[in-house]
Amino acid sequence: MNLEQAREKLAKYGQEHVLSYYDELSEDKKKALLDQIDSLDLSVLTLCDHREQLAKKGEITPLAAMQLDEIEKHREEYEAIGTAAIKDGKIGAVLLAGGMGTRLGSDDPKGMYDIGITKPMYIFERLIHNLTEVVEKTGTYISLFVMTSDKNHDKTTAFFKANDYFGYDPSYVTFFKQEMAPAADYNGKIYMEDKDKMSTSPNGNGGWFLSMERSGVLDLIHKRGIEWLNVFAVDNVLQRIADPVFIGATLAKKCAVGSKVVKKAAPDEKVGVMCLEDGKPSIVEYYELTDDLMNAKDQKGDPAYNFGVILNYLFQVSGLEEIAKTSLPLHIVEKKIPYMDEQGNYIKPEEPNGYKFESLVLDMIHMMDNCLPFEVVREKEFAPIKNRTGKDSVESARELLKQNGVCL
Ligand code: UTP
Repeated sequence: MNLEQAREKLAKYGQEHVLSYYDELSEDKKKALLDQIDSLDLSVLTLCDHREQLAKKGEITPLAAMQLDEIEKHREEYEAIGTAAIKDGKIGAVLLAGGMGTRLGSDDPKGMYDIGITKPMYIFERLIHNLTEVVEKTGTYISLFVMTSDKNHDKTTAFFKANDYFGYDPSYVTFFKQEMAPAADYNGKIYMEDKDKMSTSPNGNGGWFLSMERSGVLDLIHKRGIEWLNVFAVDNVLQRIADPVFIGATLAKKCAVGSKVVKKAAPDEKVGVMCLEDGKPSIVEYYELTDDLMNAKDQKGDPAYNFGVILNYLFQVSGLEEIAKTSLPLHIVEKKIPYMDEQGNYIKPEEPNGYKFESLVLDMIHMMDNCLPFEVVREKEFAPIKNRTGKDSVESARELLKQNGVCL
């Protein structure tokens, strides 16, 4: 892209300030800035003008979960189906590790965080350990695809290498990068990170399949005959990955997607719950849950919206390919965005100062025809690390790991 084209693109979105320092830059930096302007989708910035329309939901009705008692009754059957699918090489795992982990406040990728007490124990290590248990049980390596972003790719790949992939066979580990999106102030103007660089952030965890497609990883998936992908977040250290029973249940019920869920701890707990929206599977966020929905009961008299998602889904690849043809809704989220001020100082704000633009994996659920919410025991499978202390923190996860017999 040349300077004229860049000016035109920026003017279209009211972002001419991006070139304010252009004349001062070296030739290399000029080129880098023009390339960045070329590669970023600036149309997302127009969403700032109609934020309130973005959050509209359809009609919400309950979606029954497969609960623990039912799972117990069919455990052997489901486990056999899931194990066979793993042995046939039909299952892959996708670790979503492109996030910034701002709440945890570490400069390194979240997976590099050491949660050990008497010895080092990294989040990535824990996850690989959990996956390895299934590999050992089934005698089959499971392909693991790790999504990173421009911001953490090099550190993440170097960390895996330096730690010998925590004993996993490296030929089954593939890294791919997600796309970036511009970050803007409250008036929709892109922040500058430096004179030659706009502030960007990873474009949310919903972009994972498109990024897989763009980076060529999907070809590998086809080559290996993988038909299902178990997508999971980096921060749940009790996560069961490629769980044969979960896989078997989703396959047995012929669902396009399975979603691990936990029973809500309280009616007003801050988790997204599974539901139907206009007859299709969906997730209603805690802040969208009206009193009526919160108090609604199912036939057994239990709360009708009682199962929260934990970001562990099993998607059928063919279904993903279908929805990849359409675009996901974008969410505008308020975040702390580091930027360069008018004096040229680099500022790391303490409070949110603008918007990031993200697509979310949960919106992919709504594009599927049906979904199996599959209950798991919270204390055994859900120990998310979002913060250093307090709720969903390093502290709470350590407690849960100890309860599960993990020596820290
Ligand atoms: P979170 O919503 O917790 O976001 O991500 P985060 O960026 O990790 O943390 P905060 O909000 O800044 O503190 C849930 C999962 O989605 C992944 C994260 O790595 C985590 O596994 N994610 C999130 C991505 O892979 N890419 C993104 O752009 C955002």
